[in-house]
Amino acid sequence: MTQLVVEGLHKSFGAFAVLHDLTFSIREGSIHSIIGPNGAGKTTLFNVITGLYPPTHGRVLFNGADITGRPAHALAALGISRTFQNLQIFLNMSALDNVLVGYHLSCRPRLLPSLFRWPAVVRRDHEYRQRAEQLMAFVGLSAFVGAEASAMPYGALKRLELARALAVQPKMLLLDEPAAGLNPKETGDLDTLIQRIAERGVTIVLVEHDMRLVWAVSNHILVLDEGRKLAEGTGAEVRHNPDVVAAYLGEGGRHR
Ligand SMILES: Nc1ncnc2c1ncn2[C@@H]1O[C@H](COP(=O)(O)OP(=O)(O)OP(=O)(O)O)[C@@H](O)[C@H]1O
Ligand SMILES: [Mg+2]
Repeated sequence: MTQLVVEGLHKSFGAFAVLHDLTFSIREGSIHSIIGPNGAGKTTLFNVITGLYPPTHGRVLFNGADITGRPAHALAALGISRTFQNLQIFLNMSALDNVLVGYHLSCRPRLLPSLFRWPAVVRRDHEYRQRAEQLMAFVGLSAFVGAEASAMPYGALKRLELARALAVQPKMLLLDEPAAGLNPKETGDLDTLIQRIAERGVTIVLVEHDMRLVWAVSNHILVLDEGRKLAEGTGAEVRHNPDVVAAYLGEGGRHR
């Protein structure tokens, strides 16, 4: 079943068009990768889908509802969350509190009970803490449950951001270069983690330059070039597409 539809999406910054009339859809439960050279518009596409930028024109539909331009908390409530190409972790907070920020995005705290620390609120906080610890364990961060974020290595912070994105219990998770800056062992572990998240029924939208990871996990691949759809299909289809080879994967391109 189709979960996300991007319809005639166009994004310009001033006179500079970054996305051109982009149309594609993403199936529920799939691992859908979006690849393309630097500057192709992948992050901009994520920023438009997740409401950070309004499109110049075009629409984004999630389960049939128009979500164009909706803010992050509204999308979290619908089940859409993301990670960022440039890590967005609060380094002045503990690791666990960073994950708890994710829960606060998905629930509307009632001010009065929180002020008086009513028993129900204390119970709820305890429950969230337990769930945050479970999520940290799920992404392989049990050893950092008591850590300050500032004391964690880069690879662990990338996982922490993933745990925070999972805290809203998303139906769709957008990952912008989750393997960037990771060593080969950490990237290998990421394959398994992404597949385990997908097995929980979460649709994954993956922007990534690490082609080994892309080939390993993707059900479907969309190739962008200069803000336009260059090709899409299964890994085998995309890999052998002459346009993709010329622009991205072949001799001139930097990916193989
Ligand atoms: N806020 C902005 N204002 C002006 N131009 C922007 C803005 N954001 C992105 N761009 C431009 O849009 C183009 C696409 O950038 P984008 O970051 O979406 O590419 P990308 O495919 O994610 O690249 P990379 O693989 O390097 O992350 C680039 O030319 C970039 O300079
Ligand atoms: Mg990018």
